[in-house]
Amino acid sequence: MDIEREAKELLLKNRRTTDGHQYTLPSAQHYPYQWLWDSCFHAIILAQYEPEAARLEIQSLLSRQLDDGMVPHIIYWVPGSLHNFKWGVEGTSSLTQPPMIAYAAWEIHRRAPDETFLPSIYQQLLSYYRFLIEKRDPQDEHLAGIINPDESGEDNSPRFDTIFSAPPDISYEAHQMLREKLVDENTACNFDVGYLSREGTFWVKDVLFNTVLVENLRALSHIASFLKHEEGEHFANQNAELIASGMREKLFDGRVFRSVYGLDHKPLLADTWVKFAPLFAGLYSTEEAQRLIKEYLLDEGSFWAPYGMRTTSKHEAAYRAGGFGDKFSWRGPVWMSPHWFVYHGLQRYGYMEEAAQLRQKSIALIERSGFRECFNPETGEGEGAHGFTWGALILDMNP
Ligand code: GLC
Repeated sequence: MDIEREAKELLLKNRRTTDGHQYTLPSAQHYPYQWLWDSCFHAIILAQYEPEAARLEIQSLLSRQLDDGMVPHIIYWVPGSLHNFKWGVEGTSSLTQPPMIAYAAWEIHRRAPDETFLPSIYQQLLSYYRFLIEKRDPQDEHLAGIINPDESGEDNSPRFDTIFSAPPDISYEAHQMLREKLVDENTACNFDVGYLSREGTFWVKDVLFNTVLVENLRALSHIASFLKHEEGEHFANQNAELIASGMREKLFDGRVFRSVYGLDHKPLLADTWVKFAPLFAGLYSTEEAQRLIKEYLLDEGSFWAPYGMRTTSKHEAAYRAGGFGDKFSWRGPVWMSPHWFVYHGLQRYGYMEEAAQLRQKSIALIERSGFRECFNPETGEGEGAHGFTWGALILDMNP
């Protein structure tokens, strides 16, 4: 199987243009919209061989930014296909997603510099990251909060079960209803994050979201420096450092980073892959990383499966309860974006052999099951959406 050719064909096949905006659908059949972090992944891949399409993807994503700076996690470009997570601006969701945009933009520039691209999006980038730093941190804790599991990118991850008192075997549909109820709650208070953090059901300082934020603020600082905008560079650098220390202070338990909820930072104890995410931004010390990788990541009894990295540990009740099959989920199955984050994290710490193994497992999955949304870690069987673009991330996992 020529994975590279098929990945490129899929990205092209899922490409759409609406009102002059060009973007890529994560899956034409299952996800006929533009999604935030998906578009960033697309742009990172396209940057390698079709940089103009990568630029258009990011410009399209930013074209529906809200007045307060938030970039919605879904743009429902096609009329009549409106979905639940709607608020504020007609045709977009009311939530955001792991803020990968500056990283993608810098990657495009790094691979294919273009005089007009960065200046064309810079103010919008700055206002998005200002929104996250200022509006999503009402208690000034140097951590950005999320108001719905969907904002973590991992909709039904069991790490949020405690908050909803959800049973380990909760069905996909029942979980979706909980999240939709949350959107109603958010809408009722007009997305007043100050209120939601104090009184709402869901207020989480997530490890992945803040890891992504740190690494993206660093990318934003490169962009600002390139554009000779000192104030922006200072803002980005300072906040990258503040959030990295905020994470260490409030999310680190002495061994691993854990997401927390509520104003009093109660730890979310369900054991998910998210503890590996900070490798991506270099947030563990060398010794901590070594222990994390050897004791947890490579442990076949918990995360290291025949077909990749489980998103939830095999020891977790949620994993044992299933969550496989047609109902795709974050309750165990392997997903390509976590592979991509951990792959780069392993390389960052010099674990080239382990990174190469993860890449090999990713290739084996695609060869066995094609471009599926997620995969059974034990058998490699594909689950969820077909023609799902994240498999193309393999093109950005190079030894
Ligand atoms: C699923 C994933 C989410 C992704 C979306 C579109 O909902 O959980 O992370 O952005 O699909 O691909």
